[in-house]
Amino acid sequence: MKILAIESSCDETSAAVVEMDRERRIRRILSNKIATSVEMHALYGGVVPEIASRAHAEAISGLTYEALSEAGMAMEDIDAIAVTAKPGLIGALLVGVNFAKSLAFAYNKPLIPVNHIMGHIAACYLEYPQLEPPFFAMVASGGHSSFIKVDGYTNANTVGRTRDDAVGECFDKVARVMGMPYPGGAEMDRLAYLGNRDAIKFPSAAIAGDTLDLSFSGIKTSVLNYINSANQKGEVLCREDVAASFTKAVCTSIVKRLEEAHKKYGFDKFVLSGGVSANSHLRRAVEEFGKKHGVEIYMPPLSLCSDNGAMIGAQGYYEYLDGNLADEGLNPVATCNI
Ligand code: KG4
Ligand code: ZN
Repeated sequence: MKILAIESSCDETSAAVVEMDRERRIRRILSNKIATSVEMHALYGGVVPEIASRAHAEAISGLTYEALSEAGMAMEDIDAIAVTAKPGLIGALLVGVNFAKSLAFAYNKPLIPVNHIMGHIAACYLEYPQLEPPFFAMVASGGHSSFIKVDGYTNANTVGRTRDDAVGECFDKVARVMGMPYPGGAEMDRLAYLGNRDAIKFPSAAIAGDTLDLSFSGIKTSVLNYINSANQKGEVLCREDVAASFTKAVCTSIVKRLEEAHKKYGFDKFVLSGGVSANSHLRRAVEEFGKKHGVEIYMPPLSLCSDNGAMIGAQGYYEYLDGNLADEGLNPVATCNI
């Protein structure tokens, strides 16, 4: 089955064509075109929703055309259209949903609404044809930090989440106060190699109590206070040490929660996905967790960690198999759990 997938939940516009076949274990990306408005947001230090929506509107039809031609297909060759319908910036989602609805109507194709968070998880189905639920997952991105029990391709429950900032948001804010352009997550990753991870003790994001929830605002405030105090005292800030120690605090907190989740649910497969799953230190920490507990670890290749249409197409396939279709009455939803 060939699916055209549209993603526009934040600042990346993407159109992709994927070919999926459960019986034959085919999970193939035929094209995955991505345009980003990130440079426009860098000026403001974060995503400006109106700018993102406008950029989606400008990019979406051209990208879809490119995605189809790279896949060597016309709309007539496509079996269904998948689109991110929730969660995300509402104006941004509206652009993708309306575009997908129009295409589905004009070409008389089934329309599949997809949850963006499930899409991030589905990025791993594309990379690992052997991966099948049940498994445990974490989606760590600029908008989400959730632990998810995945019982089936379209059946999952959030069992832990951040109570405030998302982990990617926290990386970006710390990077910003250290003078790095938005989004600073990838730059922080590089900088952390050059510093001493034990130089500064930052608090844990694994809050106390019988919960799998996290709180990143405490670490963030602690890092900001550390930087402000160094500036006030006229001390030279070792940005590398801050990056390394902050990264260690984040990774240790996440692994602590994973250990607890493993004790509670006893899973043997773990999927780490979302933009922050590109973080090499977190990837290593999770690999170590896997070795220690005999848990198979699945993480998308770097090209599929951040927002893209192919992951939406992959999840869209399983939604289609379960009959989760929409009609032209489909409306996007800004916030939701799985
Ligand atoms: O999944 P994504 O593309 O968009 C959302 O759904 O939010 O995630 C973007 C986030 C940004 O906060 C970015 O700084 C972060 O992922 N990110 C990283 C790395 N690469 C991207 N954070 C830490 N280390 C990285 N290597
Ligand atoms: Zn995302």
